[in-house]
Amino acid sequence: MSQIASQDTKQAETLTPMPTKSRAKSSSALKELYAPVLQSLKQVESILQTNLRSDTPWVDELLEHSWLLSGKRMRPVLLLLSGLAVQQKQNKDLAEDGLPTTLHPMAAAIEMIHTATLVHDDVIDDAEVRRHNPTANSKWDNRISVLLGDYLFTHAFHVGSQANSVKALGMLAAASNKVCAGEMKQNFHAGRFDIATDLYFEIISEKTAELCAVSCAAGALLASTDPTAADQMLIDQFEQYGRDLGMAFQIIDDILDLVGDPNTVGKTLGTDLVNRKSTLPVIHCLEQLAEDQKLELLQSISDPAKLSEVIDVLNSTNSIEHARAVARSHIENAVTFARSLGEGTAAQAMLKIAQFVLERSN
Ligand code: IPE
Ligand code: IPE
Ligand code: MG
Ligand code: MG
Repeated sequence: MSQIASQDTKQAETLTPMPTKSRAKSSSALKELYAPVLQSLKQVESILQTNLRSDTPWVDELLEHSWLLSGKRMRPVLLLLSGLAVQQKQNKDLAEDGLPTTLHPMAAAIEMIHTATLVHDDVIDDAEVRRHNPTANSKWDNRISVLLGDYLFTHAFHVGSQANSVKALGMLAAASNKVCAGEMKQNFHAGRFDIATDLYFEIISEKTAELCAVSCAAGALLASTDPTAADQMLIDQFEQYGRDLGMAFQIIDDILDLVGDPNTVGKTLGTDLVNRKSTLPVIHCLEQLAEDQKLELLQSISDPAKLSEVIDVLNSTNSIEHARAVARSHIENAVTFARSLGEGTAAQAMLKIAQFVLERSN
């Protein structure tokens, strides 16, 4: 421990000080969708900024890194929009300023957990770029990333407890546990590309959709003033919306890993093939190919120099389009639910975010 501390103190001297303003890199298109909860999102950013600090210089440097690396902030926005949509549906406070402030620390906690999973995931995937910046593992090393991820995970629960809801905190804990189980399952099966489609769905439901689902469910729960059975049904529906969104989000992410533009996505791509992690386009393609074609594909599939040939084979079986169609069917479910919520600004934004997930290039 002391070795790590002295090494980091040395590195910390060369790093820049924490700026005073958030550097959230949401694209302008996304910002428009976030408009109904923009003031609340500023509160969430402020909670993140306040909490991602430490009196110990080298801890502070690491936390600064995780705070500066702000991504799309989709999960906190989903939480805030779900809360607002519940209020608008119940015709209580129609404006954002009627949202209970308990939503803010819970949204910040979810973003911290999301960031923790990314810090650890980049170690597992040996990724060098995240959110247009060097990953913690490439900037420092894997040991530092493990410690930073642990810090973010644990501190998230400290922040989340400020929402004063044992139920919401329990939901977040259970969801975080599932995310870890999903990543563990994926790693356990890495090396085999011909896994069952249902196993792939199970993995992405846990590692990605779970956190989107709990974001929506917790937002709906914290905004419900009357936790009756009817409210619980509504909370469950928000959870399902988040789950469908998250499933589509990961399927599209897996397509972007194959054919996305790294400068637009802002993270290392191609890691799924190199690390021999099976994704829907590959599973579908292998199911279509004859045995000899399958063996031929498997020989070159993890060689980055042969990526364009691999993509040609995936396209010859329409496998990328197939994956996109599966993502689309999840988005259709999410859109149907968002439409059922009416014409409120939050419901409209939830509908557009669902469409964004399908069309996204970052
Ligand atoms: C990346 O999520 C991890 C996946 C679940 C694919 P995001 O694309 O939401 O990451 P940030 O927060 O915008 O960086
Ligand atoms: C991991 O999936 C998502 C997490 C739950 C951390 P990926 O490995 O595909 O995520 P990216 O592409 O690195 O963001
Ligand atoms: Mg990864
Ligand atoms: Mg990915």
